[in-house]
Amino acid sequence: MAASYRQAVVAALVVVAVVARLPAAGALGVNWGTRATHQLPSGTVVRMLQDNGIRRVKLFDADPGPMDALAGSGIEVMLAIPNNMLDMMTDYGTARDWVHQNVSGYNFDGGVTIKYVAVGNEPFLTTFNGTFLNVTLPALQNIQRALNDAGLGKSIKATVPLNADVYNSPQSSSFPSAGRFRSDIAELMTEIVQFLNQSGAPFTVNIYPFLSLYSNDNFPLDYAFFDGTSSPVVDTGTGIKYENVFDANFDTLVSALSASGVGGLPIVVGEVGWPTDGDKHATTAYAQKFYAGLLRKLAANSGTPLRPNQYIEVYLFSLIDEDAKSVAPGNFERHWGIMRYDGQPKYPMDLSGQGQNTALVAARGVQYLPRQWCVVNPNAPDMSKIGDSVTYACTFSDCTSLGYGSSCNGLDAVGNASYAFNMYFQVQNQVEGSCDFQGLAVPTANNPSTEACNFTIQITPSAAGRRRRRAPVATTVLLLLVLNALLQVVAL
Ligand SMILES: *[C@@H]1O[C@H](CO)[C@@H](O)[C@H](O)[C@H]1NC(C)=O
Ligand SMILES: *[C@@H]1O[C@H](CO)[C@@H](O)[C@H](O)[C@H]1NC(C)=O
Ligand SMILES: *[C@@H]1O[C@H](CO)[C@@H](O)[C@H](O)[C@H]1NC(C)=O
Ligand SMILES: *[C@@H]1O[C@H](CO)[C@@H](O)[C@H](O)[C@H]1NC(C)=O
Ligand SMILES: *[C@@H]1O[C@H](CO)[C@@H](O)[C@H](O)[C@H]1NC(C)=O
Ligand SMILES: *[C@@H]1O[C@H](CO)[C@@H](O)[C@H](O)[C@H]1NC(C)=O
Repeated sequence: MAASYRQAVVAALVVVAVVARLPAAGALGVNWGTRATHQLPSGTVVRMLQDNGIRRVKLFDADPGPMDALAGSGIEVMLAIPNNMLDMMTDYGTARDWVHQNVSGYNFDGGVTIKYVAVGNEPFLTTFNGTFLNVTLPALQNIQRALNDAGLGKSIKATVPLNADVYNSPQSSSFPSAGRFRSDIAELMTEIVQFLNQSGAPFTVNIYPFLSLYSNDNFPLDYAFFDGTSSPVVDTGTGIKYENVFDANFDTLVSALSASGVGGLPIVVGEVGWPTDGDKHATTAYAQKFYAGLLRKLAANSGTPLRPNQYIEVYLFSLIDEDAKSVAPGNFERHWGIMRYDGQPKYPMDLSGQGQNTALVAARGVQYLPRQWCVVNPNAPDMSKIGDSVTYACTFSDCTSLGYGSSCNGLDAVGNASYAFNMYFQVQNQVEGSCDFQGLAVPTANNPSTEACNFTIQITPSAAGRRRRRAPVATTVLLLLVLNALLQVVAL
């Protein structure tokens, strides 16, 4: 009896050791956004992270749903203060209260392992017209001070996730070593990076090779990936030859930091990824290719030409598709997930970077609405008003897969309308009357999906988005039970 227990313990230790030696997976992070009409339960998401060996997660707020679910998981968390709260955080008392509730409040045994507080999200995007220019640095300073005052400043750092548009190289010498902070915010950026340097915090940057391709028809396709390029960029300042835009972009930031006197400041990649629908370049095949190259590169710890041979802390964007994200930047915005809306993997992906043809582990125990779809009624009396109904359906649901270059763009007019009606029907939880459109639509049990275009069934609405109170007592009881079980094993 005792021997077999001991064997079991030894076997468990071996498993732990093997898992711990997996190259990149332990170090990889993902972004967990929640702008979806139907969210997977937070507990389901956390289990999915654990099943995939993902040990870091970046959030966009401090919503108690995900935070409670992360408690006790050991997953390291970057939580966030949304842009619309930055103004408030220029008041120290408010910043202190935020830290007290949303950071200290989770800092107990079996609580949440918080590593960073993201102060704002890309606040200096030019599309914000300067709205957050005056408030971001004071908010950053107040949050770090509040963390320090709470006795947490050593282990928890405040940082600001910034879009890569805060730096660039001049037209006249458009290569990485000429990188500088954007001229309109150069002074502010210098103050920010010097503050980050003083507090021991990293610079957090979001880098999107997909957007380089999306915004420039002449951008060389292969330069967006990691498999070599027919058009490398030779940096005439350093002689370095860049084979992919990720490295070039990262090193442009390294140069901008050097020029601001903090050349050694650590850099965290807060977002990087590739969407799978909503644009001609947003396909599963390209996403698979991009991640295969990125993960291989990360696993090799090869760094970039200006910061060679080093590990880069990276948060993939993103974990799950979000059908309620703003599509102002483009239809692809709702398709960034490495998982579909329901926690199913979209394509083979080997997080260890070893290039094996493995699939991510899907979310477990997902509950779906009944297997029924909504389509155009073949016996509809009058089809003349169908355009208005489609517009209505698409206004209140996600039709981004119908657009040019998207997966459902090949449908005929009737298929198109059916797709729109179904998306509306699903988003309405298939309730009575949501598949009618004055007789134009009718529910069906026959799956109308085509090879290219998936007519989805939504998941059942969960309590994920709703606010819940934490239950430290339950966590503590569970921990005691586990400890007790362990002690019994040891005693044997
Ligand atoms: C904690 O974070 C939540 C979610 O972001 C926010 O609504 C709340 O106001 C924060 N608490 C304080 C005291 O600021
Ligand atoms: C920024 O300015 C443009 C043009 O004036 C305007 O259309 C847009 O709504 C503004 N955006 C914000 C976030 O204020
Ligand atoms: C930021 O502060 C400057 C100088 O005090 C002021 O001129 C500007 O209007 C402010 N901008 C915003 C968006 O509040
Ligand atoms: C800040 O930067 C200077 C110069 O690069 C460096 O010597 C110092 O160690 C940095 N401070 C911290 C806290 O990392
Ligand atoms: C289908 O709908 C999309 C988006 O509404 C539109 O761009 C496309 O032209 C439509 N196709 C047909 C065949 O009606
Ligand atoms: C379509 O969606 C269903 C679930 O709604 C899923 O089981 C299936 O794998 C999807 N098919 C494709 C081709 O994505």
